[in-house]
Amino acid sequence: MNREPLICLHNVAKRFDRGETVALEQINLRLHSERFYALCGPSGCGKSTLLHLIGLLEWPDEGEIFYEGRSYRTITEHARFRRESIGFVFQFHHLIPVWTLKENMVAAMLPECSGDNREHRALELLDRVGLAHRAKALARDISGGERQRGAIARALVNRPKLIIADEPTGNVDSVNAMRIMKLLQGYALEEKATLLIATHDEGIALSADVRIGMQDGRIESFKEMHDYCSSKDQ
Ligand SMILES: Nc1ncnc2c1ncn2[C@@H]1O[C@H](COP(=O)(O)OP(=O)(O)OP(=O)(O)O)[C@@H](O)[C@H]1O
Ligand SMILES: [Mg+2]
Repeated sequence: MNREPLICLHNVAKRFDRGETVALEQINLRLHSERFYALCGPSGCGKSTLLHLIGLLEWPDEGEIFYEGRSYRTITEHARFRRESIGFVFQFHHLIPVWTLKENMVAAMLPECSGDNREHRALELLDRVGLAHRAKALARDISGGERQRGAIARALVNRPKLIIADEPTGNVDSVNAMRIMKLLQGYALEEKATLLIATHDEGIALSADVRIGMQDGRIESFKEMHDYCSSKDQ
């Protein structure tokens, strides 16, 4: 098995309010390919901040982050790297409300994806999340659960190896929550992607390969939920 981690964080710290609010400190973490990590901990412990740093949406004050051994410091085209390598699902979907679902998908694609392929891929993804029939609907006109499924489709358009989701089921009913988790886990299995999901739902944490517990800006526990050797590695 390849033991080079997909993501590696080395002594990462992040502060806000000119240093007065310590959101993260001394974070050392290794995330491996094809695994599902649940990030848990009380409100304000630093989950979203950690996801934003790994998702290259914010920058650490200290320490270094690596993606397949490559330091984020050496990446010059951040937007392109994000599109290519990371699918990010926000807690509140972040779809453009006045665009159709299809337009939201197409806008997230890499520029080299040609016109016909864009259309095809957008519809394929929307079909996968059960929204093909809503492709022409404006994002503002669909339900909350549909928006979140649309946001998942958008995160997958460029076949990223890493999917980061920040409480993806936090604002939907239990039926949609189950559907969302099935979609994310199904994609990860098929595309050999890694899932990193922040959640307050212990049921989701139980279905993960690893439960990462956070407290006061630090990683407090790192618990294998299943027997790693007897499952994916053999
Ligand atoms: N942009 C910001 N400016 C100032 N403080 C911030 C900012 N973002 C986060 N913080 C603070 O950093 C700490 C960690 O916040 P974070 O959003 O990462 O927590 P969380 O674990 O995601 O919480 P929740 O479960 O409520 O989403 C909190 O004290 C928060 O108030
Ligand atoms: Mg959060």
